[in-house]
Amino acid sequence: MPLPQRGKFITFEGLDGVGKSTQMENLAAHLRDRGIDLITTREPGGTALGEKLRTVLLSSRTEGLSPLAELGLMFADRAQHIDEQILPALERGQWVLCDRFTDSSEAYQGGGRELGSEVVLQLHKTLCHDLQPDLTILMLSDVARTVARARRRNVEQSKTMADDENRFEKESRAFYNRVLAAYMAIAKRAPQRVIPVDAADAIATVHKKIIGIVEERLFSGKPLSKQKTP
Ligand code: TYD
Repeated sequence: MPLPQRGKFITFEGLDGVGKSTQMENLAAHLRDRGIDLITTREPGGTALGEKLRTVLLSSRTEGLSPLAELGLMFADRAQHIDEQILPALERGQWVLCDRFTDSSEAYQGGGRELGSEVVLQLHKTLCHDLQPDLTILMLSDVARTVARARRRNVEQSKTMADDENRFEKESRAFYNRVLAAYMAIAKRAPQRVIPVDAADAIATVHKKIIGIVEERLFSGKPLSKQKTP
């Protein structure tokens, strides 16, 4: 039996509340309709260990976490996620759609927490086999509107969850401006991989744009329906 062709790895990035999760699920449904075998996952999270780390990282009950400890936990989550979920799926020939990846650490810990990019890229090399997505959709939006939306959503969610996920949403406007600036710098550095998408448009419009990007970048203009993973 020939080895299956390695799957494609697509990540979604952007500020909290920008609508990444919806767009990722919509793209997943579209690709599945076209016969692509795939998994969707997220960071922090995606594994049993990762979901525990997620609670620690996102709960506003976690106090006094140092920026470097926060970065270390994000990478512990990611190293486990890559070895347990992402690489095995790609090697089986499945596509992997992931809500956040190392660009989030570069934007939030490198930019937002002002740790800089170098430490993030070094950790990525050492702990993550330097695994690069085939494509990153960077959803761009106005800082104030997006963060306000994330805060509203998390207040709603925390009514039904044992723990909230509000620790980052408590950060200042200046923090989110630094996160956005770091994302823009990544997009400038890696224009082949990172494609910015205006997230202010209607959900269906953004979805269409994302499909267009995936077709162009990962199928070189061939209709998706002709592509089937083995
Ligand atoms: P997420 O669940 O994607 O939140 P949202 O749906 O609000 O975008 O991400 C959780 C938070 O974790 C988000 O505030 C960004 C933060 N984060 C980092 O700071 N560094 C990282 O490496 C990752 C993966 C996430």
